[in-house]
Amino acid sequence: MAARRQRLYINVDHVATLRQARRGTEPDPVAAARMCEDAGADGITAHLREDRRHIQDDDVRRLATQVRTVLNLELAATPEILAVAARLRPPPFQATLVPERREEITTEGGLDVARDPDGLREAIAGLKRAGVRVSLFIDPDQDAVRRSRALGADAVELHTGRYANHPGDPEALAALRRAAAAGRDAGLAVHAGHGLSVANVAAVAAIPEIEELNIGHAIVSRAVFVGLFAAVREMRAAMDAARRE
Ligand code: PXP
Repeated sequence: MAARRQRLYINVDHVATLRQARRGTEPDPVAAARMCEDAGADGITAHLREDRRHIQDDDVRRLATQVRTVLNLELAATPEILAVAARLRPPPFQATLVPERREEITTEGGLDVARDPDGLREAIAGLKRAGVRVSLFIDPDQDAVRRSRALGADAVELHTGRYANHPGDPEALAALRRAAAAGRDAGLAVHAGHGLSVANVAAVAAIPEIEELNIGHAIVSRAVFVGLFAAVREMRAAMDAARRE
């Protein structure tokens, strides 16, 4: 049995995607964040992309003051976005550094932690000086886990995209298990996310070292049919059931 309740952080980006379809004010990702918290979310995640395709600077400012649980800000380690993060009051509880390419539909792979280690180390140190816990979004690879530790990260978020896209591929799950164990052995907190849904979350929720899941698209999609509160409760129940088994 997997020990300890796993945290559920909900990514509200796609509430903002719907709003940006009309460049209006509805639906408001901050109001959605409140409802997610009412339904039992342990944290709220938002990705301020360089192209501002969904979450806007003002959303991040409002989330920083209005989130009652904790805010996990996803960001690329670029000077412009790091400067926005540095101005937030209060600072976010956590920052997750992600790779970003303008032409991608969503974050496609993990951060290449071997490329520009000095730049990454500096970005991590700057965030930590501001009191922010730093997580790196990486592919489930043991070497990337160890490098993350060497760069000074507090946590790694393991990219579950390959598992989500190929749920029948035993190697995808095995890689997540190995990377999660490597994270624990390196003294890092281990998170996971990308492409998780009620249908596929169980195997990842059952990995004992993974203490936090970041889930967005599947919950917002399900909310169209059952409402956001119910969609969050469904995910929470699926995670808890997997953790009990
Ligand atoms: N974690 C990270 C680092 C991400 O970039 C994303 C997607 O924005 C997620 C988790 C959530 O992925 P999904 O929306 O597929 O649940």
